[in-house]
Amino acid sequence: MRNEDLVRELAERGIETSDEWIVTRTGIRQRHIANPGVGTTDLAEGAARAALRKAGVAPDSIDLIIVATSSPDQVFPSTACSVQARLGAAGAAAFDVQAACSGFVYAVGLADALIRAGSNRRALVIGAEVYSRLLDWTDRSTCVLFGDGAGAIVVEAGTTPGILASRMHADGARGSILSVAGHFDRGSAIGDPFLRMDGKAVFKLAVDVLDSSAREVLALADLDPDQVKWLIPHQANVRILAASAKRLGLAEDRVVVTVDRHGNTSAASVPLALDVACADGRVLGGDLVLLQGVGGGFTWGSVLLRM
Ligand code: ACO
Repeated sequence: MRNEDLVRELAERGIETSDEWIVTRTGIRQRHIANPGVGTTDLAEGAARAALRKAGVAPDSIDLIIVATSSPDQVFPSTACSVQARLGAAGAAAFDVQAACSGFVYAVGLADALIRAGSNRRALVIGAEVYSRLLDWTDRSTCVLFGDGAGAIVVEAGTTPGILASRMHADGARGSILSVAGHFDRGSAIGDPFLRMDGKAVFKLAVDVLDSSAREVLALADLDPDQVKWLIPHQANVRILAASAKRLGLAEDRVVVTVDRHGNTSAASVPLALDVACADGRVLGGDLVLLQGVGGGFTWGSVLLRM
């Protein structure tokens, strides 16, 4: 849905915003909104099938499925278990990771650790979200920012390490700056079921932790920021992306930006951006790529990999 269409729909409901405000404050020009009846599991399954096809591997060769999501279709079974059943990957371990917009980076870090430990050999890591159903469509300060989507990768054991370093962090004491506070009690949704955000606080913290996290994984791999070919951070806002690149001393054209076409898709944003940059020929074999997540919790983390 393009900004113009969203602006028109919101105006019909008495909510005033503009394409100009959305583009200048966030860089977002459009987002996808899942049709009624389409859920996070559906999006996750589609992304999973595309990743398996591109990797040339069969579903029954997967022994680990991790879905990063904070908008699952149900409390449990997990989205990962539902996807496992649909793919026919019986026996594979399957669970969800709930780390909001850092979820995909957390999930890749976990898959890497389990494979290194010898517990698993081939993992399907998925980020999938239907945030449109968590939004208060009367709150213009949040409803223009997010979109729905999914992306996935296959991670497997190999002789040359693709993942050079990964680290995850959280500061639960800062949880209130970005939250969906509602919960279930005796079959009813209790409390505020919508996403609430202190935009300025999130902005400032995001820029700080993205910088420290990038430096942490680069130091672990004994590499310098200028060796990073592609920075692929969580796609929340072009101004956060630009500020992060500047702090690291990277030219803006080394940052993959897809927030303009997807909006903020939370845990799906990093795999979607990686997919776009691989498909358009920017990211090539051998490139040093830095994936970064940051979001509710408050959570953050980075994965440094050689494609
Ligand atoms: N359309 C028009 N006006 C709006 C809208 C809108 N959609 N939303 C807010 N405004 C108005 C406000 O009411 C305010 O008006 P006022 O000055 O008359 O009170 C004015 O715009 C400025 O509002 P601010 O909240 O100060 O706007 P700001 O410049 O901080 O931008 C934004 C808001 C884009 C959310 C910014 O704070 C930001 O980028 N924060 C980072 C958080 C983020 O990207 N979160 C995404 C999820 S978190 C994550 O993924 C990590």
